Amino acid sequence: MIHSLGELSKDFRLYHDIIGCLVGALEAKDIYTRGHSMRVGDMSYQLAKTIGLKGEELEIIHIAAHLHDIGKIGVPDKILNKEGKLTASEWKAVKRHPEIGSNILNCSDELKKISKLVLHHHERWDGKGYPYGLREKNIPLGSRIIAICDSIDSMTSDRPYRRAVSWEMCRQEIEANKRKQFDPFLVEATKELWNYWKKEFFYK
Ligand SMILES: [Fe+2]
Ligand SMILES: [Fe+2]
Repeated sequence: MIHSLGELSKDFRLYHDIIGCLVGALEAKDIYTRGHSMRVGDMSYQLAKTIGLKGEELEIIHIAAHLHDIGKIGVPDKILNKEGKLTASEWKAVKRHPEIGSNILNCSDELKKISKLVLHHHERWDGKGYPYGLREKNIPLGSRIIAICDSIDSMTSDRPYRRAVSWEMCRQEIEANKRKQFDPFLVEATKELWNYWKKEFFYK
């Protein structure tokens, strides 16, 4: 775990444990992504901190990042765990997970800020993402942070249909997608963290 729990306030440590349980419920179903949500949460926390965010804004991004894929609970298991290529209608079902997740989380005013970040975690800087095709700074900052950490962890993890790429290749890929998929300012900010992440997650 990239942040020490000691850094978090006492109340927040309890939330953090409960979030870990919710994510465990998702990962019991989506067997190929074990550990992914917790790593993306902790990487996003670190990236948000690196660009100077703190207090409530930092904690909201941290929680949203841990919960970013919670909507996959609403996607049928046989699609999530399918080893072959997905059909067009199966892709459509997978692409509904940000909205499902955001609806799950939209149950109180307090949780609305988290729900919004989850809703937009698959938007792209160039507007070609989903569900709304938002562009650039119209995408909430927290969602842009989650998007880049999600991609780094996915690329450097094995999936049933492909092997993990090396950290060096992943780094080149993120750089190549600056201003396409990712916020260029955030791509620059990851430079400080790259060696640390590689060391922390190399043996995942
Ligand atoms: Fe965390
Ligand atoms: Fe996702």
